[in-house]
Amino acid sequence: MNQHHSKDQWRLTYHIMPEKGWLNDPNGAIQFNGLYHIYYQYVPETPLGGATHWGHMTSKDLVHFNQEPIFMSPDQPFDSHGVYSGGGFVKDGLIHFFYTGNVKLDGDYDYIYSGRKQHVVHVVSDDGFNILKREVVIDHDTFPEGFTDHIRDPKIIEHDGVFYMILGARKADNLGAVITYRSTDLSEWTYVGNLIEGTKDEGYMWECPDLFELNGRYVLIFSPQGIREEAYQFNNPHVAGYIIGCMDWDEVKFIPETEFIELDRGFDFYAPHTFEDETGRRIMWSWMGVGDIMPEYTNPTIARGWQHALAMPRLLTIKNDRLIQQPLTAYEGLRKEEQPLNINERYTLEDKAFELLFELPTEDEFSIDLIEDTTLEYKNGILTLEHGPSGCGRRWRSTKVDHIETIHIYVDTSSIEVFVNDGEVALASRVYPKDNMPHAHVKASDQAKVTLWGLKPSI
Ligand code: FRU
Repeated sequence: MNQHHSKDQWRLTYHIMPEKGWLNDPNGAIQFNGLYHIYYQYVPETPLGGATHWGHMTSKDLVHFNQEPIFMSPDQPFDSHGVYSGGGFVKDGLIHFFYTGNVKLDGDYDYIYSGRKQHVVHVVSDDGFNILKREVVIDHDTFPEGFTDHIRDPKIIEHDGVFYMILGARKADNLGAVITYRSTDLSEWTYVGNLIEGTKDEGYMWECPDLFELNGRYVLIFSPQGIREEAYQFNNPHVAGYIIGCMDWDEVKFIPETEFIELDRGFDFYAPHTFEDETGRRIMWSWMGVGDIMPEYTNPTIARGWQHALAMPRLLTIKNDRLIQQPLTAYEGLRKEEQPLNINERYTLEDKAFELLFELPTEDEFSIDLIEDTTLEYKNGILTLEHGPSGCGRRWRSTKVDHIETIHIYVDTSSIEVFVNDGEVALASRVYPKDNMPHAHVKASDQAKVTLWGLKPSI
């Protein structure tokens, strides 16, 4: 499949994006009998969003993808206004998906808190394509007291032969929480309490929670809405991050051992969603979006009939109480011939999709001009990504980084993803250059080394 249209220079060449219409969160990621499946929030009719479907792509290597037919549409009474987000879970040769069936009510509601039903729906499949069963297992009307109508985005974790479902929630006091249900058969679910509750500095609604074990610890990822902006973090309207901790399984409580840490410092990153593949790797997908709700920004691809993409999948590990996020090594297979670049020399590049590796063992200051008017600058311990007019209203994001040894950049026509120090810090952003050839210009001392590869399309 080739999703790149020659008339639209912003179509991506190795990222998942909608053929037309709208895309948001990744959903239901699994590997089943060797084949990877990724589903995503998708509205085929319009690039502006609406009642979401689950779009579907498959892959053998997480680099090359096949577009599959839409997996689920909002065509049931319990999901008439959206087959919302949820997770996949493989058990005894079957795939179990759980998602939120969103139903908007007609009437005079305060829609910020109410006016909707969000049922938990269980879907069973024997191959990721067929649907054997699709039914409500938790009716909205049975949700516990003390919450607004916002309880959604189920994800399953198994512990000692028991299944736990976590859901993101907005409490009646307008604070975020993750709530938990328990089951022994994946059909009958009982509310067991709140896994964790937020304080007033931690947002009002926690979307897309995800809990998993990694390197002997537990990691809780979620996407809180309404976190207060600080000078060098939480600068997007909604952010995504994680806490590392441990689990008290008797009380079913998550016990934090770190603060809440933002996962990505670019303009476009939200609703991350992980899965463990058949080789035991913990891999994270995420929506390379959310920038669309910034008032200063209009995404120019809307006029071309589509909007948004997923970020590259990232391999997760833990080092020094931090999640490390790395591009998968399989993406090296897209590299064309290696091109060493001279420092302090400006290059016009032949490829609009490219990878740049910058190794700088001694530097405490540098800047990289690339694409059209995007700059990555490091000075006084602050790393800044700055867009010119091709940022379409988004200007800069700054992050504190003590010390930089490597900068690994993936550009794909209208996206940039940056991995600092082999995955200690990551930044994802969309950027919309005119149809000119991109350039690269690394300004640093000549002890630094820069390598560039054009990248072949894979989707
Ligand atoms: C996060 C989110 C989820 C919801 C989905 C609807 O971006 O709002 O909470 O399930 O998107 O598309």
